[in-house]
Amino acid sequence: MKILAPSILSADFANLGADVKKAVEAGAQWVHIDVMDGMFVPQISFGNPVIKALRPTTDAVFDVHLMIEDPGRYIEEFAGLGADIITVHAEACTHLDRVIQQINACGKKAAVALNPGTPLSVLDYVLDDLYMVLIMTVNPGFGGQSYIPYCTQKVRDLKAMIEARGLATLIEVDGGIKTSTIEAASEAGVDAFVAGSAVFGGDIEANVKALLAKIQ
Ligand code: DX5
Ligand code: ZN
Repeated sequence: MKILAPSILSADFANLGADVKKAVEAGAQWVHIDVMDGMFVPQISFGNPVIKALRPTTDAVFDVHLMIEDPGRYIEEFAGLGADIITVHAEACTHLDRVIQQINACGKKAAVALNPGTPLSVLDYVLDDLYMVLIMTVNPGFGGQSYIPYCTQKVRDLKAMIEARGLATLIEVDGGIKTSTIEAASEAGVDAFVAGSAVFGGDIEANVKALLAKIQ
């Protein structure tokens, strides 16, 4: 099954619960939550209190994307607030293996994100411990950027790596996903698609349905 994960970064923060409800009721299976610290990426988005407030409003899977330096400092806290999937950037972890173990020890699903320019080889020794790999298809930090075309080949290469090892690791993409880019990513082997501006810009229900129609 292919999964749509609307990124609340592009939602109306004054009506966050209502926007998320619309997206989930229209068929989105996950809620993608972008936490930014103003260091790993230039922008500061939101943090734990927002996740805490949102958690009781929906049963959807919380896919928490940590764009923060040294994310190992906060794993237990995010786990306690109800994150289901916790994604850390390989580039932000001095001790990547330790952070993955921390997430798994909390009983949460561990994922590693790679910036566009980061090679897949950083996953060589940790791939078997991951639930998912997030291939960034823009440079992280902002919504509404354009999909970087070479990332499609990166997804194909990752898919081949996962299949060669006989793993069931999911592949997620994030950045510039819209009705014009989602199909090519899907064909390359993506399982979960993050979409921010393409979901929350305009009619949320129609946008979710249009995106899901391209991958089902
Ligand atoms: C970017 C974030 C994304 C962002 C995607 O750094 O990780 O999740 O919200 O936005 P769109 O879908 O508008 O490119
Ligand atoms: Zn994201």
